[in-house]
Amino acid sequence: MQNDIESHLIEKRVFKPSKGFSKTARIKSLAQYRRMYRESIRQPAKFWGREASELVWRAPWKKVLEWKAPFAKWFVGGKLNISENCLDRHLNGPRRNKAAILWEGEPGDKRTLTYQQLHREVCRFANVLKRNKIKTGDRVIIYLPNIPEAAIAMLACARIGAVHSVIFGGFSADSIRDRIIDSGAIALVTADGAYRRGAIVPLKKNVDEALRGGTSIKRVIVFRRTGSEIHMEEVRDIWWHQELEYVDANCPPVPLDSEHPLYLLYTSGSTGKPKGILHTTGGYLVGVYSTMKYVFDIRDEDIFWCTADVGWVTGHSYIVYGPLANGATVVMYEGAPNWPEPDRFWKIIEDYRINILYTAPTAIRAFIRWGDQWVAKHDLSSLRLLGTVGEPINPEAWMWYHKNIGGGRCPIVDTWWQTETGSILITPLPGAIPTKPGSATLPFFGVEPAIVDEKGNEVGPNVGGKLIIQRPWPAMLRSIYGDKTRYRQQYWSEFKGNYLTGDGARRDEDGYFWIVGRIDDVLNVAGHRLGTSEIESALVSHARVAEAAVVGRPDELKGQGVVAFVTVKTGVDASRGLKEELRDHVAAHIGAIAKPDEVRFAEALPKTRSGKIMRRLLKEIASGAKVTGDTTTLEDFSVLARLSESEE
Ligand code: WTA
Repeated sequence: MQNDIESHLIEKRVFKPSKGFSKTARIKSLAQYRRMYRESIRQPAKFWGREASELVWRAPWKKVLEWKAPFAKWFVGGKLNISENCLDRHLNGPRRNKAAILWEGEPGDKRTLTYQQLHREVCRFANVLKRNKIKTGDRVIIYLPNIPEAAIAMLACARIGAVHSVIFGGFSADSIRDRIIDSGAIALVTADGAYRRGAIVPLKKNVDEALRGGTSIKRVIVFRRTGSEIHMEEVRDIWWHQELEYVDANCPPVPLDSEHPLYLLYTSGSTGKPKGILHTTGGYLVGVYSTMKYVFDIRDEDIFWCTADVGWVTGHSYIVYGPLANGATVVMYEGAPNWPEPDRFWKIIEDYRINILYTAPTAIRAFIRWGDQWVAKHDLSSLRLLGTVGEPINPEAWMWYHKNIGGGRCPIVDTWWQTETGSILITPLPGAIPTKPGSATLPFFGVEPAIVDEKGNEVGPNVGGKLIIQRPWPAMLRSIYGDKTRYRQQYWSEFKGNYLTGDGARRDEDGYFWIVGRIDDVLNVAGHRLGTSEIESALVSHARVAEAAVVGRPDELKGQGVVAFVTVKTGVDASRGLKEELRDHVAAHIGAIAKPDEVRFAEALPKTRSGKIMRRLLKEIASGAKVTGDTTTLEDFSVLARLSESEE
C-alpha cells in the first residue's frame, strides 16, 4: 500500500481563501483555526460546552463527556429534543416565515415549506405515529423518495423519541427485510412510488415483498407520490393523507435524554450482514450543528443544496439535522442529475440562486464526461462555496469543479467523514484553511486523527498507513445496534482505545490529510459503501453458484466498479445468459448499485492454505494488471493462470 501512496505525491497547487471570503467568514484565518483547534483539544469540555449552549436544552448536562472506552456519553444528564432544536426554536422570530425546504420533484413539481409550515407538518405526522401506537424507543423504518415527507417523518419520529431507520429507495425487498429483522421495527413509512429518470420505482411493491410471510412490522403508512396502482393490505396499510384527517397540529416535543437513540442507519462492513450504526441525540446534534456552521459557514441568507439522498448519512446530517438546526434554507431534489437533460443540476442552481453546493466526486466525474456545454448554458454566479464528500476526489476533477462550477472564485471543502462518524471530521474551513486539490486538509475542532502502521506507531510525513481517530467526538456512533461486541471488535480493538476508520491515508509535510480509500473489504461504488461479502452472499444464494469472490477495480466514473469471480456448481453451463442472470440476481437482492459490472466464471478461486480467498490477486486480475505480488501462500498455482485466461 505504501508504494501506491507514494506514487501520487505530486500535487503542489495551493488555493488560499480569498480576502473577501475570509473577511465575512466565521473562521477568518489559519491562526484563528489553530487557536480554536488547540482549545478544542486541550479543553474539550469548554469548547463543546460552548457549542452546545447555543442550542435548546430542557435540562442542563452535568458532564460534557463520560468516556469509558469504547463507550462514550456526551452531555451526560442533559435533556433535549432534536426536532425542537430544528423547528420550534426558530418560530419566535423572523425565521418562522423563512423557507426551510425548497423542494423540486423530478417531473418538475415544486413545493416550499417555511419553518412554520414544516413544524406544523411534523407535529401532525408525529400525532399520526402516536395514533398508531408508536412510542418512545420504537423503531420505525422510512423507505421514501427524496421528498419533504422523508424529513417530516424523520423529525416526527425524533419529536416523540421513536428511532428512525431510513432505507435508501434504491434498496430491494431483501435488503429491507434484513433491516426490519435486525432493527425489530414495528412500523414502516413508504410511498406508492418514486420518480427516477422518468420511470417509477415501485417502493410499495418492494415493501410488500419484504413483508411477505410476516415480520415485526404492524403498520405501513403510505404517502401518495405517483398515484400508481398499489396493493393496500387491510388493517396493516394506511394512507398518510387519510391519517392526517384524524389529528391536529398540537404535539409538544418530548424531552429526551442526551443519549436517547435518534436513528439507526445500516452500512456495509467488511464481514457479514450490514451493521445498524446507532446515533444518539445530544452529541449528534452538537456535531452536525457545529460542522454545518463552521464548514459551510452557513448564514441566514444562504440557500444550501446537498445533493445526497436522505437515505444516506450525508442526507441525514446535511439535508435535515445540520441545516435545520442552524435555521438554514435547504434545497431538496427528488431525481436524477441527468433528467430530462444532463444540465438539471445547473438549472436548479440557476433557478433557486443556490449559494452553497455539496455533492460527490462520482457526480462531478459524470458532469465532466457529459461535457462543459451543459454547464455553460446556466448562470451559476450565485454560488459562493462548494463541497464534496463520499470518496477521494482526484485533483483534476477538483480543478474542473473549481473552474467550471465555482468560476474560480468559490472555495471547495473536501469533507472526509463516515456513516459512523455522524459529522464531518477532516475538512477545510473555507475562510481559514488553504486547500490543495485532492486533500481533505486538516481536522475539524475536537478531532484528533493520526496515521499509524500495523503496530500502531505513528508514521512520518508522506508515509501511508491506517487512519485512526484518537479520541471520542460528539457525533460518533455509540454502538452497532444490538451488537456491542462487534462494535468493540470492529472499531476499537486493533489499536486499543483508538477508532479505526478502515481508510488508508497519508499526511503531508504541512500536516494535510490525503485519504486513499478503504483498506478493508468494502468497496466504494459511486460514493456508496458496499461490503464485498454481501454481494458474495447474494451471488451464492443463486441456485447455480458454488462460490463467489467480489473485488473492486478502478472505474473512471464510479470510483470503483464491481467484479465478481464465480464458480458454478458441477454440471451447470456457465453461459453468457447466466452472467446476466447473476447480475440481475444481485440487483434484486441488494439493489441496482451493487450490480456487478462484470461476472467472470472460474473453475476455482485462489486461496491460501488456510482457505482464505486471496482478494489481492483477484483485484490485480480484475484491473487487468499482471499479478506481481507474493503468491507463495497460494494453494493451487494453476488457478491463477486459468483465472487470467477467463477474461473474454
Ligand atoms: C470515503 C459518507 C476521501 C471513505 C459520508 C469513508 C472519503 C467512506 C471522503 C465513508 C473524502 C468519504 N475523501 N474519501 N472527502 N468522504 N470518503 O459511510 O472511504 O457512506 O470511509 O459516509 O467514504 O462512506 P459513508
